[in-house]
Amino acid sequence: MSRWVCTVCCWMLVLCLWTVGLQGADVETEGKTIEVTSAGIACSEALAARVGLAVLKEGGNAVDAAVSVAFALAVTYPVAGNIGGGGFLLYRSAEGETRALDFRETAPAGARLDMYWDEQGRPVPEKSRIGALAVGVPGTVRGLYLAHSQYGKLPWSRLLAPAIRLARKGFAVYPFLAERLARYEEQFKQFPESYRIFFPRGRAPKPGELLQQPDLANTLEAIAREGDAGFYTGPVAQAIVRAVKSHGGVMAQPDLENYRAVFRKPVQIRYGDFLLYSMPPPSSGGLVLQGILNTLQATGFSADRFPHNGADYIALLSEIEKRWYAYRNAYLGDPDFVHIPWSLFASPEKAKEIARSVSLAHPFPARQLPAYRLITSSEKPETTHLSVVDQQGNAVSMTYTLNGAFGSFLVAEGTGVLLNNEMDDFAARPGYPNLYKLVQGWANAIAPGKRMLSSMTPTLVVHDGDLEGVLGTPGGSTIITSVLQVFLNRVAYQMPLDQALAAGRFHQQWLPDSVFVEKDRFSPTVIQELNERGFHIVSRERIGDVQAIWRSQQGWVVGADPRGNGLPVGF
Ligand code: DON
Repeated sequence: MSRWVCTVCCWMLVLCLWTVGLQGADVETEGKTIEVTSAGIACSEALAARVGLAVLKEGGNAVDAAVSVAFALAVTYPVAGNIGGGGFLLYRSAEGETRALDFRETAPAGARLDMYWDEQGRPVPEKSRIGALAVGVPGTVRGLYLAHSQYGKLPWSRLLAPAIRLARKGFAVYPFLAERLARYEEQFKQFPESYRIFFPRGRAPKPGELLQQPDLANTLEAIAREGDAGFYTGPVAQAIVRAVKSHGGVMAQPDLENYRAVFRKPVQIRYGDFLLYSMPPPSSGGLVLQGILNTLQATGFSADRFPHNGADYIALLSEIEKRWYAYRNAYLGDPDFVHIPWSLFASPEKAKEIARSVSLAHPFPARQLPAYRLITSSEKPETTHLSVVDQQGNAVSMTYTLNGAFGSFLVAEGTGVLLNNEMDDFAARPGYPNLYKLVQGWANAIAPGKRMLSSMTPTLVVHDGDLEGVLGTPGGSTIITSVLQVFLNRVAYQMPLDQALAAGRFHQQWLPDSVFVEKDRFSPTVIQELNERGFHIVSRERIGDVQAIWRSQQGWVVGADPRGNGLPVGF
């Protein structure tokens, strides 16, 4: 895998809170699970988790906590936390109203289908991954502002105050961040402003050294004072546009001014007695999860017949995943631009048909699925994760991202804002693989103003009308299958949350026609058995960084993935 893909780049926080009362000792632990009675937050970085905890203790609700953690992560977790990126937020009120907020980036008006092609018409990966041309119009600030204006309780400026303090006074660089900055030093060197901020001593910071971001503190203050207008208009917007243009990008002032975050109807998925709510397009997460879970049920799957992570289980799940990623890559895109075949993904007949076609004995050749012709055809077809639960029982599950680690590596001069490289989530040219090796079609081709297709899968699980779980993860194309596996580990295999999070993960995404398995997490006998059946097995360092909260007898179990840098907190 390229270093681009292996890194935690996108990302997510799951914050959950429940409050029966605000009393109780704090519980916190590094990268594990904790039992809490009232409220909890699981997210990938400790300082930000504590910011959210304080908001909850002050009587802030789930959305308040999510907003404060998201702004804090933009300072303390620059690898993925952001104000220069975008994402999705799933909200569920204590009364059960559920809404999906889309604040995905858009292609600038000046974007063109062939903007990343060389003279032979082949996409040049660096163009859509590093620097100004890779930048999509950021959605995070408008999304958080809209969420707060509809559902927030504490004053907006209160929620930004901790982030401003962390940026201005600085924080001690922790080992994970030090390692990631060192790993990407060469990329940062291409952008002197970015290098100056993150390598203030002319070298990668060591764990324990202070990282201050005064420009970012000023930008956050403008947002605290003026709301989203402090980012999308005025001096900050002008500086962002100036920077993007001077580095060869195409984003202009109207792109920022016209950017809109939108509420959408979540995808609902039945699995036994459980009802899952997940993200609709422009994320593929909800629909692909729906197709896979419907098909799994249509096979008559039960955990007692499929030993966990045994050869049959891996064969079954990965063959189902292959079919649905093929449909994803052929048909899904921005619903405002392309027709979404909702009924295909929801269809019980289609699920049965796929269930019948799956063989555990042999993999089906990926290129023989009809989607392949659609994607490689030169003709354009006509028809395309933070979670919080508060004292009242409202919940938020949110995934947001810069796409690759540190996004485009470009910080707009004077603003401290690290900009995304989300444009690479489009099919830079239909039929050619992107950063996550996803081979996608015309439905996800570049067009001005269009949102690029995502795999982010913020998810809420409901049982008997009550909130049961909140989960999500980073991991590019593996997001959907990581959410799927943690859900099945918990619900079908009845694992406690810590085991459900720790268990080895695997992934199939149609093309490449391979099953990716986490290194050293699977029995050699199982791998050998799969090889003998003809499955092409590729080992990967680590898949996902799931942050989850699940109902328990005392209240909630809050869990950060043991693979990551996360910290579950609560009371
Ligand atoms: O929206 C998407 O699907 C990707 N931009 C997410 C990126 C990601 O998860 C990177 N994390 N490893």
